[in-house]
Amino acid sequence: MKVKIFLLGLVLSTASLLAQQKPVYLDATKPLEERVEDALGRLTLKEKIAMVHAQSKFSSPGVPRLGIPDFWMTDGPHGIRPEVLWDEWDQAGWTNDSCVAFPALTCLAATWNPEMSRLYGKSIGEEARYRNKTVLLGPGVNIYRTPLNGRNFEYMGEDPYLSSQMVVPYVQGVQQNGVAACVKHFALNNQEVNRHATNVIVDDRALYEIYLPAFKAAVQQGKAWAIMGSYNLYKGQHCCHNQYLLNDILKGEWGFDGVVVSDWGGVHDTEQAITNGLDMEFGSWTNGLSNGSSNAYDSYYLAQPYLQLIQSGKVGTKELDDKVRRILRLAFRTTMDTDRPFGSMLSPAHYEAARRIGEEGIVLLKNKNAVLPLDLARVKRIAVIGENAVKMMTVGGGSSSLKVQHEISPLDGIKERVGDRAEVVYARGYVGDASGEYNGVVTGQNLKDDRSVEELTDEAVKVASTADYVIFIGGLNKSPHQDCEDSDRKGLGLPYGQDELISALAKANKNLIVVNISGNAVAMSWIEQVPAVLQDWYLGSEAGHALAAVLMGDVNPSGRLPFTFPARLEDVAAHQLGEYIGTVSKEIVNEKYNEGIFVGYRWTDKQKKVKPLFPFGYGLSYTTFAYEKPVLDKKEMSPDGQITLTVKVKNTGAREGQEVVQLYISDKKSSLPRPIKELKGFKKVKLAPGEEKAVSFTIDKSALSYFDDHQHAWVAEPGKFEAIVAASATDIKGVVPFELK
Ligand code: BGC
Repeated sequence: MKVKIFLLGLVLSTASLLAQQKPVYLDATKPLEERVEDALGRLTLKEKIAMVHAQSKFSSPGVPRLGIPDFWMTDGPHGIRPEVLWDEWDQAGWTNDSCVAFPALTCLAATWNPEMSRLYGKSIGEEARYRNKTVLLGPGVNIYRTPLNGRNFEYMGEDPYLSSQMVVPYVQGVQQNGVAACVKHFALNNQEVNRHATNVIVDDRALYEIYLPAFKAAVQQGKAWAIMGSYNLYKGQHCCHNQYLLNDILKGEWGFDGVVVSDWGGVHDTEQAITNGLDMEFGSWTNGLSNGSSNAYDSYYLAQPYLQLIQSGKVGTKELDDKVRRILRLAFRTTMDTDRPFGSMLSPAHYEAARRIGEEGIVLLKNKNAVLPLDLARVKRIAVIGENAVKMMTVGGGSSSLKVQHEISPLDGIKERVGDRAEVVYARGYVGDASGEYNGVVTGQNLKDDRSVEELTDEAVKVASTADYVIFIGGLNKSPHQDCEDSDRKGLGLPYGQDELISALAKANKNLIVVNISGNAVAMSWIEQVPAVLQDWYLGSEAGHALAAVLMGDVNPSGRLPFTFPARLEDVAAHQLGEYIGTVSKEIVNEKYNEGIFVGYRWTDKQKKVKPLFPFGYGLSYTTFAYEKPVLDKKEMSPDGQITLTVKVKNTGAREGQEVVQLYISDKKSSLPRPIKELKGFKKVKLAPGEEKAVSFTIDKSALSYFDDHQHAWVAEPGKFEAIVAASATDIKGVVPFELK
């Protein structure tokens, strides 16, 4: 008995000793801020300085002495980038770092389905976690201001409400894996040309109403743990160290407690980097794509120069402590979270997620005489034409370039789906860009073809004329001046003579289906000549499967455009009112966003006479939907109240399908100019043939408010409003007036 009591006492006292010894910062039961302060108090000045700048292309040091791991960043946003050499952009040549490529974010936005966004975030977050990454460099939510922007494919379209709704679940999905999402590029990085030297001049209304809401939603609703500053300037300061954007708005007004990471090579000045809100410096002296000075990490703006300023007493440590606190929070939220799940890579579930998101994002733009879906029972021969039917699209495009385990091309997807039920013949049709390498990752495809345009066209026309159906698969690609980082497109038209080719194919076969692969709007001079058009994005690993499923009708298309397809470039406000400076300059140049809040459909609506090629929110289905008159539960709203709109939607066709019911609000009279209408709600509903569902929206003050730049506040002005139910920005199904008291 005595022995037992003695042993018990020994166990208890050892346990309490151990509990006492466990430092607060390692004790997950303690509040986060207590742990942060405890860890901060243990760090030396040099350790702190080390933490605020990179030690390699994609990592910054932790504190080995205290068991705080290094911080590893990865692109983002469509899959996990291959490992790169310590101080290079080139891949390291590992054989176990291939990923699943998910569809580009334009496709995700085109699903108009926040649940798809959650699935996307969860899946890519699992891949990032398995690869032991601390931060995923994505998602990107810069607003689609011009169709020339080479990086639009990485973003979520032209509308602040749509992108806000879509970014939140992505961030949450990633972070549930103990990996930080890093929302980029904050802010006003709306073009690639001259991205390092453009000083954006934009009024506060446009800033708050158009360019910031998705970032704000990611921070306040999604609780993003990291944000990336952008390359460009605002109010004369580079956005990676910008008093207004980072200190006043992000950390001040929005209460962001995470880390601000610089874009790679986005830091230009030590003092500004100290005081203007930056927390972690990466990639200095590169342009984000090419190499700068080698292993220059000690000379980074926030390295030795910062240390020297502190040691000489010229600056204090207040800012440094704030940066390190944020970095410690990042560690506790990610690598030091003992409940962090393990993640997974290349799983069947991830491929399925990639395919489903792709299927839901494809947009049916035209379908005259119900050419689509293809009925394989009645088809003997299908001609597939075009370079994009075979070209791997996961390699290229800049920092989002990937190394995939596999990628199903559109042609392979179609062949696999058709099987031996029909013959599938292929002709190249045009040669775009035959190269297939990025940062040492090679596609392994040999797309070289020296035939003349005439020879290629002749062959394509001949093949087309012998087939029952022709599927032309073209569009843009990930090469410079297409959908690609660091350069913009040179025009709205299709490159490589595709317009002429499509016209020739249309003459050869009336059953021509055009599949446009791009992350941007393109002009379609031939639109009247072809019966069917699909907008297919960069769909990643499962590209061919997703496309084939829509072509053959296994999936009823339900994607809707997340941006306007203008008929002409001049119809875009940035090009009509200016400014869009499409040239590179050594000196910093001002670019005025003269159009203010009138971006995308907000501008098209105002123009009245200008018709877009395809409006924002547009997309067809293989079935049809009918809307009843929308009703409001009351006609008047009190300032802090809300009203509910309900509309019944019915599937009037013969197939199951999904409709995206859109709610726009129109302010009938206001002190400041307002867009004719603005998207303030949407719901995707699945309906069986003949099925009817009631769709409801709650409208509150936030849906009626504009940003008053004089008061620097969101204001809902009493007066008359309209709730507009629509199937796209131009397809209005019902309007109900109400009043804000
Ligand atoms: C891009 C970022 C990217 C970073 C790291 C930069 O060139 O602008 O979006 O995350 O490189 O690759």
